[in-house]
Amino acid sequence: MLFDTHAHYYSNAYNEDREELLTSLPTQGVKLALTVGTNLYNSAYCISLAENFPHIYAACGIHPHWAAAQLPSFIDKLSPMLDHPKVKALGEIGLDYYYDDSPPRPVQQAVFRNQIELAQQKKLPIIVHDRDAHHDTLRILKEYPSVHGVVHCYSGSVEDAKTLIKQGYMLSFTGNITFKNARRALEVIEFLPMEFIMIETDAPYMAPTPYRGKRNHSGYVYYVAEKIAELKNLPVEDVIAITTENGKRLFQIED
Ligand code: NI
Repeated sequence: MLFDTHAHYYSNAYNEDREELLTSLPTQGVKLALTVGTNLYNSAYCISLAENFPHIYAACGIHPHWAAAQLPSFIDKLSPMLDHPKVKALGEIGLDYYYDDSPPRPVQQAVFRNQIELAQQKKLPIIVHDRDAHHDTLRILKEYPSVHGVVHCYSGSVEDAKTLIKQGYMLSFTGNITFKNARRALEVIEFLPMEFIMIETDAPYMAPTPYRGKRNHSGYVYYVAEKIAELKNLPVEDVIAITTENGKRLFQIED
């Protein structure tokens, strides 16, 4: 059974059928899904979803896009949310230098650091977002050797992947590895031992081929497993079993 380790089920894209969709996941082969917050408000919503569905778990955190919108007291508000038994990680957090209207880099870095320190204190794994900020992301993660987690939707080099796994990070891959123009991530997967690989949808974004451009959901994480199976020359059932175990180990989820 599949574990979709990264989806955003607070999204408006699910307003019409959220309950029906989440209820149906086990019948689509998905045994676990982690819904990941990007600000305080939708992080709280992720917790309420996790409370309502036994197979849904939550992560809470401030995404770099929201870094400038936080009051100085955001850590005090985030901290108690992390004590909820179904919150399994602090995320998603990180750096995003892609968009011109992103918050200023020093602001993003400060919010990132504050949250890594909170994760260290809470002994929780972090879920890292890194878009066009590989150098600074790696540099900051190195400052906190006792913290571990996952770099989601991994888009870095093989060289950086080696550094990250040495430091205790997992790498997770989305539907974009099924796209025709995918190259770098495929090289990373070919190199990466299976024990460091997790799969995710990043739903509602990043729907895999043949659903590219449509709304994504956890049922489609199968296509990510299928692509990895092809690259690793393994039966897809093995990839599903291993990636599910990897996710359960990182997020400390028991059956
Ligand atoms: Ni995401």
